Amino acid sequence: MVDLAIIGGTGLTSLKNLKISRREVVHTPYGEPSGPLTFGSLCDREIVFLARHGYGHTIPPHMVNYQANLWALKYAGVTRVIAICSVGGIHPGLLPGALVIPDQIIDYTWSRNHTFFEKDLTQVVHIDFTEPYCAEMRSFLIEAAQRAGISLGTEGTYGATQGPRLESAAEINRLEGDGCDMVGMTGMPEAALAKELEFCYAACAVCANWAAGRGEGAIDMAEIKTNLSHSMAQVRLLLEEAIGNS
Ligand code: HPA
Repeated sequence: MVDLAIIGGTGLTSLKNLKISRREVVHTPYGEPSGPLTFGSLCDREIVFLARHGYGHTIPPHMVNYQANLWALKYAGVTRVIAICSVGGIHPGLLPGALVIPDQIIDYTWSRNHTFFEKDLTQVVHIDFTEPYCAEMRSFLIEAAQRAGISLGTEGTYGATQGPRLESAAEINRLEGDGCDMVGMTGMPEAALAKELEFCYAACAVCANWAAGRGEGAIDMAEIKTNLSHSMAQVRLLLEEAIGNS
């Protein structure tokens, strides 16, 4: 049974060193996941990989079926999830290329299916979300980074915006005032749904750019691509260190 999953975000639609054994299409009560689950071994450990935006990177953040993705992983027997997501840096220390393991999240998304607890209930369910991410998985990633000599921020608040457009400078000022250190479009409802399904779930955020109004002029998509391809090499190293020692 495979217990560990990696959800890859923008810039990580495949894992280069994953020795793929099979792919499985899972149909869920919530619709179709972003693609088949990819099973294989990474550093001699069985894992499952799923590209959040689809393997061809065609599903925008607000159209991702977060419920189906997580339900499919649960169905496959997964208990632990590492989510990779790209973000814009708001905190001055989160410059393009930085990696960070967020410890808090604020949800600014709307109109996404954000709970499993709404139909056929015998009673109303409220999950605790004081700590949105699993402490054990966060330490697992932080310790792997230390062992591998990968520089990585060990805390920060992720502001989840609706997208697919980037934010205005004023929106980023508002997020900063709220306490956000980084901004991305996929952190929610993924983290909350993962908690509802009782996954040990943590995210590794990869800074692709300065958030709106924090760098010089407009945000350059070509620059984001370059930054992400460099940082994803670090993410792959981090994953291999973490998984190889688990
Ligand atoms: N805003 C929202 N999501 C993002 C950004 C951003 O600046 N960069 C990468 N994902």
